[in-house]
This record gives sequence, C-alpha cells and structure tokens, in this order.
Amino acid sequence: MKLLFIGDIVGRSGRKAVKNHLSHNQYDFIIGNVENSAAGFGITDKVYHELKDTGINAMTAGNHTWDKKETLSLINNWDVFIRPANLSNKLPGAGYKIFDVLNKKICVINLIGRVFLYTSNCPFETFNNIYKEIPDDAFVLVDFHGEATSEKQAFGYFAKGRANVICGTHTHVQTNDLKMIDTNTLYITDAGMCGAECSVLGMEAGNIIERFITQIPHRFTVETKGNIMFNGFSFTIDDDNIIRDYKLISEIYPEEEM
Ligand SMILES: [Fe+2]
Ligand SMILES: [Fe+2]
Repeated sequence: MKLLFIGDIVGRSGRKAVKNHLSHNQYDFIIGNVENSAAGFGITDKVYHELKDTGINAMTAGNHTWDKKETLSLINNWDVFIRPANLSNKLPGAGYKIFDVLNKKICVINLIGRVFLYTSNCPFETFNNIYKEIPDDAFVLVDFHGEATSEKQAFGYFAKGRANVICGTHTHVQTNDLKMIDTNTLYITDAGMCGAECSVLGMEAGNIIERFITQIPHRFTVETKGNIMFNGFSFTIDDDNIIRDYKLISEIYPEEEM
C-alpha cells in the first residue's frame, strides 16, 4: 500500500500543485497539511471539499487552524479534518482520527509544538495519552507542527517505536533528513510546502519585507506568479505495517505549464 504525505498547502498555488502531482501519480492513502490552503490562512468549507475531491484522504492543520471564522462551526462536519490534539478540550474537532484503508487502520495524529508558537498543552504527554487509546494494530502517523527543529527531532526520538511516521510541518522548507530512526519509524523534520517557488513561505514577499522593517501589521497575500512547487514524501507499507520504502518528493512545475 502506497501513502503520500503533502507539506503545507499554501493557497491557490499550493492547491494547483497538489492537483498536478496527483494527476500523474497514484496512491492508496493521502495525508496533507491544509492549515494555509484558503488564501494562505486556514481553511474554508469550499476549500475543504475541493481538496477532498482532489484526492486528499486525511487533512492536518496547525497554528492557522482557526483563521477562518467558519472553522469553529463547521469543523465537526469535516470528517477527514484533524486539528492539533494538544489544545483546550473546550474546542470542537478531533486531534486524531483512525481511517480504515484496505483492511488496515491508519491513525493520523496532529500535534503542535510549543517552541516559538503559542502556548499549548504538552505535545509529548498528549501523544502518550492518545497512544493508550488507539488500537494495537493501527499504523500511526504523527504530523508534528513545529517551528523548532530541536523540538521536532526530540519528539521523533520520544515517539519512535510507537509512531510509525513522524513528520514535521510548519516551516514550509523541506528538510533533507527523511530517514528511519527506529526499526519501523520514518522521520522527517519538515515535509516542506506546496505553493509558489519564489515566495516567503508561499506568500508575496513585498508586504512581508515591509512588516519586518516597520514592525506594523501588513496584509499578506498568496504569491500566484512564477513556478509552482510540490513538496512531500511517499512510502509503502506491507501487510504487517512494515515500511518498505520511502522517497522525498520535491517537484517544480514551470509557470507556463500550469
Ligand atoms: Fe503552514
Ligand atoms: Fe503553521
């Protein structure tokens, strides 16, 4: 069985990249981080359904989960959407979900880091608590949405042997460290991003530069010009949930072909 994880999908450009990649490749199960999929900030009902129709089977999020007002009221209708688990238990939505795929149970967990992000519950303790609840025969994938490389690596070595895939998101820059860190645990610090290749995290650079210089709020907009990038990684698992091979994916689609 072949699976794909897609790094943060940023706006229209990111969604185009996903469509392009999936029109040329076949997978049995696809997980994507969608926290920036609607104009760079959060997700809307329309974009949720568009991405589902494109072929994404499980969606994870992060610090931009609640950017769009409608998320709070609609999240419980979005059956494949997973928000960070280590948030207030007053919030709607689920921090992990178990999917039945070809006689397997795939458990997708979303956690958010605490370094250089807002304060949340401990992602390490939250993982321990979730792990007690999930079936023994589930294949476990964790999207750890974090800013600090060290926090993501530490989580990887903490959860190895229990989680089968530990995949960092949020920095939007793909790291070159996809590797097995245990007999059956695949790890990467950051899966990267789908969106405009020449941009600041998928957004137009101009207002972001102004923001850094002036330190006053500016409106950020998705970069829609230039080449489009697709980032993620694929892997296969056998009948016993053993990871057999894995591959980093980084593709650039020329502007004129999109
Ligand atoms: Fe992001
Ligand atoms: Fe993020």
